[in-house]
Amino acid sequence: MALRGYTGSVSIDLDPGKAALGNAQLVRAIIDDMASGAITFERYMELALYHPEHGYYRKAGRIGPQGDFLTSPVIHPMFGWAVAGWCHAAWKALGQPREFTIFEPAAGSGALATAVLDWAESRDDGFREALRYVAIEPNAQGNEPRAEWVAPPIAPAACGVVVSNELFDAFPVRLFEGSERGPVEIGVRWDGEAFQEVHLGVASIDDAPETGRFEVNAHAYPAMRSLCQLVERGAVLTFDYGYPQDELWAPWRTTGTLLCFYRHTAHEDPYVHVGEQDMTTHVNFSELASAAEDEGMAVHGPVSQSAFLFALGLGGLVESARADMGEYFARRRAFQQLTDGAGLGRVRVLAATRGIGGELPGFAEGGP
Ligand SMILES: C[S@@+](CC[C@H](N)C(=O)[O-])C[C@H]1O[C@@H](n2cnc3c(N)ncnc32)[C@H](O)[C@@H]1O
Repeated sequence: MALRGYTGSVSIDLDPGKAALGNAQLVRAIIDDMASGAITFERYMELALYHPEHGYYRKAGRIGPQGDFLTSPVIHPMFGWAVAGWCHAAWKALGQPREFTIFEPAAGSGALATAVLDWAESRDDGFREALRYVAIEPNAQGNEPRAEWVAPPIAPAACGVVVSNELFDAFPVRLFEGSERGPVEIGVRWDGEAFQEVHLGVASIDDAPETGRFEVNAHAYPAMRSLCQLVERGAVLTFDYGYPQDELWAPWRTTGTLLCFYRHTAHEDPYVHVGEQDMTTHVNFSELASAAEDEGMAVHGPVSQSAFLFALGLGGLVESARADMGEYFARRRAFQQLTDGAGLGRVRVLAATRGIGGELPGFAEGGP
């Protein structure tokens, strides 16, 4: 081969240059938003993900093998069957009310709705008849026709469960860098060729890290309080990547938790593939728990998704498919992915309950 042992200076320019900047219309819209100067990182992230026309989540198909990343509901319906079983237990603990609503904020493609409704239809007529499924999705909506697809404001229900998967970790966040003067907010400006970070003012934030980067998800606490208000009696069941505050803001975590996903590759540059990549940060579970408590709810967990699914008996769904080897191997693979401690298994699960007696599955005392 001509190239073997070749030591000449011929090289290929591998720099993708401006092509990697992303959706040109969105980049233009963000630059226009900077008319009076640099914007906060939070505003930049809001436009990148949720600009009314060009934001990343305005287009369907972002999640899944053909998209940029995978979530638990799209791995296999098993995840939704487990959620359905949990909601069924909550329905029974509430005394099998004649009307029971499952609200799903961040319903996305409707994969979770489909699995839950399939489970209800095949398992318990009483539960199915009582069940109303409300999919809350302000961006690209799925097409599960058995669910009601709505955008806020939402009327609350007397009895039900609010279940969300990766809602809070998709909220725009403020970005800070610790300094001797206190936490300095990061802003974004356009230098004519690329987005650049700038330092904005110094903020006062309780218990903030003194060095390194960290994020503040200002939308999480009020959103959790709103979700808790959706059910008079029932539960809020939340699946998200995150940590309690002391772990989230641990001194050794010097680069924060912001991650971008582009075609199943994770990286840390939010200024490329703008509008064509996901941006996400880990959630402060201490704040979610406080929000639920401030709404008068009892908090259970958080536990890891892996522990939660094991406790619910997800492994039994693998074994029960042995008669169909194709399905058996599909479930076995999904089980591994959903409980993988280095992947989806480390998602945290938190439940907040009101008016439900006894213990709900997956949150046994002494669990991880
Ligand atoms: C990471 S995706 C998760 C989608 C889906 N739950 C899943 O697991 O595949 C985040 C979703 O949150 C939705 N979202 C963002 N802000 C929201 C809000 N305020 N209310 C409801 N959904 C929201 C986005 O449109 C997007 O569909």
